[in-house]
Amino acid sequence: MTFALGALVLSVSMGALSYFTTRHFLVSDQENQAVHDAFVNATFVSQRVRDGTKIIPVLTDADKGTPHSHSLLDRRGIWYERSFSVTQRAIPSSLRVLVSRGTPASQTYTYKGTPQIAVGVPIPHAVYYEVFNLSDLAHTLRVLALALFAAGVITTVFGAALGRWASGRSLRPLTGVSRAAVAIAGGELGTRLVATAGDPDLAALSLSFNRMVDQLQERIEREARFTSDVSHELRSPLTTLAASLGVLEAQSDSLAPSGRRALELLTADVRRFQRMVGDLLEISRSDTGSADVSLEEVDPGELVRRAVLAAHRSLPVGTPPPPVEVDPAVSGTRLWVDKRRFERVMSNLLENASLYGGGATAVRVELGTPFDGHPRAVRVTVEDSGPGLPPTERARVFERFYRGHAAFKRGAGTGTGLGLALVAEHVRLHGGRVWADEAAGGGARFSIELPGDLSDADDDEWLAHGNSAP
Ligand SMILES: Nc1ncnc2c1ncn2[C@@H]1O[C@H](COP(=O)(O)OP(=O)(O)OP(=O)(O)O)[C@@H](O)[C@H]1O
Ligand SMILES: [Mg+2]
Repeated sequence: MTFALGALVLSVSMGALSYFTTRHFLVSDQENQAVHDAFVNATFVSQRVRDGTKIIPVLTDADKGTPHSHSLLDRRGIWYERSFSVTQRAIPSSLRVLVSRGTPASQTYTYKGTPQIAVGVPIPHAVYYEVFNLSDLAHTLRVLALALFAAGVITTVFGAALGRWASGRSLRPLTGVSRAAVAIAGGELGTRLVATAGDPDLAALSLSFNRMVDQLQERIEREARFTSDVSHELRSPLTTLAASLGVLEAQSDSLAPSGRRALELLTADVRRFQRMVGDLLEISRSDTGSADVSLEEVDPGELVRRAVLAAHRSLPVGTPPPPVEVDPAVSGTRLWVDKRRFERVMSNLLENASLYGGGATAVRVELGTPFDGHPRAVRVTVEDSGPGLPPTERARVFERFYRGHAAFKRGAGTGTGLGLALVAEHVRLHGGRVWADEAAGGGARFSIELPGDLSDADDDEWLAHGNSAP
């Protein structure tokens, strides 16, 4: 914009300057020439005109040397005009008044749309006028204005193009940096800038950027490895602890009531600890990129029904299984899913619904909005009729160790706040997305969307419809 504006201002000022200078020069040149010619012709006429001379032939003779002019003679109020088109009316009255006082004068003006110069020269007993047609000059000036205008337009367009090219060229490295930063923020820690040869500033920028990302990656991986190692190291003593507690539990009848109570508390806490370590290990594996995902082709409805049944088994006894509603539109969709991980997802969601929302009221399987270039998406929602999630908590509940309002209402000590973080991790490993909002009845609603393909039967139909998802 600045380049274009600069070019515009420059071309307008240069154009205007050239136009007015040239016009001034051409007009004054023309005027001088006209005055000179008129004086020569006036002398010629004054020498030839005597009483009784035929005047018109003299005027015609005078005009022979100046093709674009017409001579007129005012001889004591009698006008001699050589042409019908240029008569006494073509001479401005102001000029006539001036010349009638005995002074030669000239005037530039427009008569009947034609620019002209009239020169009046008093001669003995008469006034000689000569009218010069300036159409040629006007035409030249019009062509000049047009040429300058075209040059101005071309300069402005060229300025804009140059500005675009120059700013694009100077910003290109920044576009690369910003693209790399977005990729790194999205988890692609292996992204690096390619150092371009020939630009030392850019090479230094790429070098320091890449060094920063190296350090960042190293640090993130070190931390993830540390968590993974710690969880791993904790697993063996915890297994021993749990096994020993099992032995003690088998002999709990021989313990005093206070000892039994202590044993119960210890067992509950060790189980919680074991679960937390298991969850941590799972999360840190996916952080270090060592998570093994074994995908199988599944039917969405069948997958969810089985996962809900399996998850239901781990819920407290007496909790009724939630109804699973499968939209028939989903049946033509093929999903690739790690069943174990999907069961963990469902069991975490159902467990939360049972703990904080009085039990899941519905599990729905329907078509979602396709994303990431997949032709289809399957959405699984788990709803409850509990107090729901306050809007400020809806994104935060997926953070690690985040426990919300509902958890503290029930009394601290049960969960660890890793359940939904693990759900998010499992869904991410499937290339899907997960979010929380409000169910129609005011309870919490958790939605998962997994990318899917069309099953073979629907494939042809989809292709026939120009690759747009139905
Ligand atoms: N259905 C729900 N209704 C209301 N709040 C919920 C619901 N599900 C989760 N939450 C809130 O989200 C928080 C995080 O849930 P998350 O499952 O990650 O952890 P947790 O249940 O507290 O512990 P963990 O699952 O690791 O044992 C919970 O502490 C709770 O406050
Ligand atoms: Mg939970």
